[in-house]
Amino acid sequence: MKNETINPVRIGDFINWGADRFEAEGLCFGHGTDNSWDEALSLVLFGLSMPWDSDVSLLQRSLSEDEQLLIKCLFDRRINERIPAAYLIGEAWFAGFAFAVDPRALVPRSPIAELIESRFSPWLKASPEAILDLCTGSGCIGIACAHYFPEADVVLSDISIDALAVAEQNIQRYQLGKRMKKVESDLFASLHGQRFDLIVANPPYVNAGDLADMPNEFLHEPAIGLASGFDGLDFTRRLIGEALDYLTEEGVLIVEVGNSWRALEDAFPALSFLWLDFERGGHGVFLLTRQQLDAYHLSLGID
Ligand SMILES: C[S@@+](CC[C@H](N)C(=O)[O-])C[C@H]1O[C@@H](n2cnc3c(N)ncnc32)[C@H](O)[C@@H]1O
Repeated sequence: MKNETINPVRIGDFINWGADRFEAEGLCFGHGTDNSWDEALSLVLFGLSMPWDSDVSLLQRSLSEDEQLLIKCLFDRRINERIPAAYLIGEAWFAGFAFAVDPRALVPRSPIAELIESRFSPWLKASPEAILDLCTGSGCIGIACAHYFPEADVVLSDISIDALAVAEQNIQRYQLGKRMKKVESDLFASLHGQRFDLIVANPPYVNAGDLADMPNEFLHEPAIGLASGFDGLDFTRRLIGEALDYLTEEGVLIVEVGNSWRALEDAFPALSFLWLDFERGGHGVFLLTRQQLDAYHLSLGID
């Protein structure tokens, strides 16, 4: 890094300057923010050790030379290495809670956050007592569920020990140890005999075409969290085939498949997926009940 300071020294001007650089360099947003200004703001607040809800008057304050250099260094790393801001900061927000993140787990950003915040209303008949966050990554979905359903026991499972280590950090952050269990498992392999009222999953679902086109920011995330075969459905096919045995009688399965939703409809014409809507954006999240899965298996002649 060159030892230089930048002309605009007020925080607001500095954020604008960073956002302009991000735009000019063609960065990709979508790991916690969706625009260059918020991305620059998040790095500035982190550089200054200021909280997210800082007063807007902060924008008028001048930066010292050291502060400018520190933030410029963060901007440079964001641009030159294409590291998502959440990884530079080591934190991401999901469903109103901050989660520790690092490249061992995906940056939380699922639209499922919106469903959790509304306690999955109106889709659950009763408050779930047992919840499974399948493919938990940082633990964001399961831990947020534990907050919104304080009576529930929650299992976080993932095939990646690395991801589960990040989830453990977040369990400790929120002191949820008593109600949470971590399980290393390939899909349901280590969950035999357990039944859940709610299974929520944001599994890998990126198809080969989308994977090849992904901006460099995504290369910092674990590939095992993104790629799922030619049509993006390798994991979800298995999940739909096996979920029945892990749901209670009134159990509900909620799964994100993003852009692979069309391929899923084609692959399972006999299943009536309920595609959920989001006010804050996002798509490709379906809901199936245990009864639907049961009927589907019966129609295939599988007991
Ligand atoms: C898209 S990430 C989602 C992480 C987190 N739930 C979130 O929303 O940020 C998918 C996760 O699935 C895990 N995974 C991939 N294949 C798996 C498998 N066969 N069984 C269980 N987990 C798997 C990955 O390790 C990764 O953590």
